[in-house]
Amino acid sequence: MNQDQLKQQVGNKAVDLIHDQMIVGLGTGSTVKYLVEALGEKIKHENLTITGVVTSKATAALAQKCGISLKTVDQVDHIDLTIDGADEISSDYQGIKGGGAALLFEKIVATNSQKNIWIVDQSKLVDKLGKFPLPVEVIPYGSQKIFERFVKEDYQPTFRLTSTGQKKKTDSGNYIIDLHLQQIKHPHQLALKLKRQVGVVEQGLFLDLVNMIIVGTVDGPKIIQ
Ligand code: 5RP
Repeated sequence: MNQDQLKQQVGNKAVDLIHDQMIVGLGTGSTVKYLVEALGEKIKHENLTITGVVTSKATAALAQKCGISLKTVDQVDHIDLTIDGADEISSDYQGIKGGGAALLFEKIVATNSQKNIWIVDQSKLVDKLGKFPLPVEVIPYGSQKIFERFVKEDYQPTFRLTSTGQKKKTDSGNYIIDLHLQQIKHPHQLALKLKRQVGVVEQGLFLDLVNMIIVGTVDGPKIIQ
C-alpha cells in the first residue's frame, strides 16, 4: 500500500465516528480530503444532519462541493469532535501541524472541540518531534525582525514560499516561518517561548490536545487512545 492509500484508509475509518446531529471540526490536508469526501457520501446515503466547522478555505471549498453544511466556530455553541491530520506525532502523542499552513484555524477549532482525533499514515509517527520543520505564523509587519531573532537563536528559519517564490500567505494573510530544528527536546518550553514573541500569531506545536489517533498501516487502521 502506498502513502496515499494509507491516508484514504484512515479518512474512511474516521467517518465511522461521525453520527447524526453532530457538529464536527474538519481539519486540512491530503488525509482530511478523504475524510471530507467519505463524510459527504455518508450524509447523502444515510440522510444525516451534520454541521462542519472548517479550518481552511481549501477544506471549506471541498466540504461545500461534497454537500456538507458549514458554520464558523463562532456560530456553534460546541464542537463534538474535530478530525485532522498531522505532520509528526511523537511517542508521547504530541504533534506538529501546519504543513498545510492552516495551523491557526486548526488550533482554534481544536481547542474549542470536546474531542480531537488525528488521522495519519504510519510515516507520521516519530520518537521525538522536530525533523519536520516547525511552522510559526507571523504577521507580515516586523516579520523580518522575528526572522533575524530566530537566526540568532539558531532555529534555522526559512520563510515559506509559494511555487513562484513569493512569501506564502495564510488564509489570515500572515506569513509562515518554518524552523528547521531537527529535534525538539522541550516542546512545552519552546511553545511558550515562541508565543511570547510579539508578532507571532501561532506556532505549530499541538500539545496535550489529542484524544485518539488513527494510524494507517498495511495491516489496516490502528487506533491509539
Ligand atoms: C495543515 C496540517 C495538516 O493536517 C498536516 O500538514 C498533514 O497534512 P497531510 O494530511 O496532507 O499529510 O496541519 O496545516
